[in-house]
Amino acid sequence: MQQVKAVVAKAKGEPVSIETINVPDPGPGEAVVKIQACGVCHTDLHYREGGISDDFPFLLGHEASGLVESVGEGVTDVAPGDFVILNWRAVCGECRACKRGEPKYCFATHNATQKMTLEDGTELSPALGIGAFAEKTLVAAGQCTKVDPTARPAAAGLLGCGVMAGLGAAINTGGATRGRSVAVIGCGGVGVAAVAGAALAGASPVIAVDIDSRKLDAAKKAGATHTVDSSQGDPVEQIKEICAQTYPGAEGADIVVEAVGRPETWKQAFYARDLAGTLVLVGVPTPDLKLPDIPLIDVFGRGGALKSSWYGDCLPSRDFPMLIDLYQQERLDLDAFVSEEITLDDVEQAFTKMHDGNVLRSVVVF
Ligand code: APR
Ligand code: ZN
Ligand code: ZN
Repeated sequence: MQQVKAVVAKAKGEPVSIETINVPDPGPGEAVVKIQACGVCHTDLHYREGGISDDFPFLLGHEASGLVESVGEGVTDVAPGDFVILNWRAVCGECRACKRGEPKYCFATHNATQKMTLEDGTELSPALGIGAFAEKTLVAAGQCTKVDPTARPAAAGLLGCGVMAGLGAAINTGGATRGRSVAVIGCGGVGVAAVAGAALAGASPVIAVDIDSRKLDAAKKAGATHTVDSSQGDPVEQIKEICAQTYPGAEGADIVVEAVGRPETWKQAFYARDLAGTLVLVGVPTPDLKLPDIPLIDVFGRGGALKSSWYGDCLPSRDFPMLIDLYQQERLDLDAFVSEEITLDDVEQAFTKMHDGNVLRSVVVF
């Protein structure tokens, strides 16, 4: 067991605090990781606000990279000294989804078995089974994916959550590729990553839509060929026109990624698709929201696919090393997502900044 500094949300809605926590030595199948960087994600704030569960205190942080410090019995995939990106979906290999070759739908993902605790012995709930706003954390070895150790930690860690969700929504879920058009509605961190994914896959045009013009600038830098400011009204007609310029007769985009998570924007995404196009919902809706009012005949008549993208439908062992290689070759600009590097003490302030519109990601570096 060892003691380290960490960011803990002790009670619903209250500011986070820096605490000393106890990190057990890794047991069978576990690893202790010395965290090098961890991005601040909306989900951390949702935990702090009590929107995810009531299991306070939470050890926040889940978008991280670091060096494996020690591993427990039976761990062979990673070893001390490995540079890894942490994932929150270590799959079981045994359930029906895993057995039919679709581990992205595994319903028996796992985390470390032992508990990290506060100094007084209170058990901590690590955010998404990770808890990486900490100098060190305990995870299941399956949550660690080894990548090129020369990659910048702050950029690499972002693949652990938001950036992977966006890239994967466009590429893995939507099937973006050369010869297809992509529109992305909502260009926060996730949406801009979807734009980057579409561009990386060779799709064109890549249309970025947002109500905030600063977000459209970020999307342009990530590879959007066109931008639509939807603060003045419905963007559907403009998306159709842009797609028809490249593909005469097209009635919308082949793939529309909805990265807001609201019925109004889902409805825009539905109608901005070409016939037989794919809608990908990656923005996470709050539980109270319902499908928008759309005539069933339109669902029938337009065909295509209505999908959701969970963690970008990623397979960490396949996607993390590949995307890090593309980053190292300067074909994927992960640095553009790192708006600022901060310390553990600044996490509460970073939550405030999330809403001011200038920050894609604040990243704690150690
Ligand atoms: N039309 C277009 N864009 C919109 C609209 C709208 N009606 N409403 C909001 N947006 C834009 C915002 O301007 C912002 O750029 O959507 C973007 C949301 O980005 P972030 O708040 O940074 O969220 P992000 O981290 O990208 O996550 C995407 O998934 O998990 C949820 O709460 C999260 O709703 C967010 C979404
Ligand atoms: Zn499984
Ligand atoms: Zn996250």
